Amino acid sequence: MLKSDVRSFWDQGSAGEFWAVGSEAKLRFLTEEKSRYQFEPFIPAFADFAAAADRVVLEIGIGMGCDHQQWARARPRRLLGTDLSRRSIAYTRERFDLFNLNSNLILADCECLPLSSGCVDIVYSWGVMHHTPDTRQAVREAHRVLRPGGTAKVMIYHKWSLTGYMLWMRYGLMRWRPWLGLEYIYANFLESPGTKAYTVDEARQLFDQFSDVRIAIQVNYGDLLQSEVGRRHRGPLLSIAKKLWPRWLIRRLLKRHGLYLLITAVK
Ligand SMILES: C[S@@+](CC[C@H](N)C(=O)[O-])C[C@H]1O[C@@H](n2cnc3c(N)ncnc32)[C@H](O)[C@@H]1O
Repeated sequence: MLKSDVRSFWDQGSAGEFWAVGSEAKLRFLTEEKSRYQFEPFIPAFADFAAAADRVVLEIGIGMGCDHQQWARARPRRLLGTDLSRRSIAYTRERFDLFNLNSNLILADCECLPLSSGCVDIVYSWGVMHHTPDTRQAVREAHRVLRPGGTAKVMIYHKWSLTGYMLWMRYGLMRWRPWLGLEYIYANFLESPGTKAYTVDEARQLFDQFSDVRIAIQVNYGDLLQSEVGRRHRGPLLSIAKKLWPRWLIRRLLKRHGLYLLITAVK
């Protein structure tokens, strides 16, 4: 998989655009923000935006800039945001202009950050590093730019997820290709080409440079078939599944089969 393919995928549409509805830009950003935290209420608790006060914060992979806006509101000493896609930088710039917020927005690859070592207190990255070809290098870069004692808060995808099983049924089993592994399914049918997902042990290995690493599994709106689940996934079968999906049962019995790995790692 080429990084240019990843960039071109995200240049065609940013994550969360399906929530951004409304007649004018400000309204679209507000609608997206409302829906994002309605469907992903665990983000603020995990990110702990308030911890940014008077700190240097770097967000890697800002997308439409919704979480970045929360970091900015918490009055960090310095805020930096990066993304590989021009579309993401443009969206976030527009959002920050509209809401009168400040950040240093940089079009940059997370495998090679244009920052000096040890200059950041908090690195935050939500749903980004599994998209880049060399995820290990992306984690290494996050570690490098953090100061000793600094914290990385990172969400990457979990291999054993309901989302993965559903995609396998749709693109493996129903196409008479049950031998396709989950790696292939995530790489070809979830989001940008080459997307990866990790077991808890694999994620722990990725973060083995850090001194203290905590990992939690989180069921998301895709696992629960709530809301839109991305621009690649629409159709009558999905509409029927959404009506029949046993969400209460999943929340009770399949909590360890969520798509998200929430990783808190201290350097
Ligand atoms: C699923 S979106 C997540 C965006 C945002 N964090 C959010 O939660 O809405 C993935 C983002 O990662 C960015 N991305 C992918 N590969 C990257 C790389 N190598 N360096 C920086 N950003 C990258 C994409 O451009 C895209 O904006």
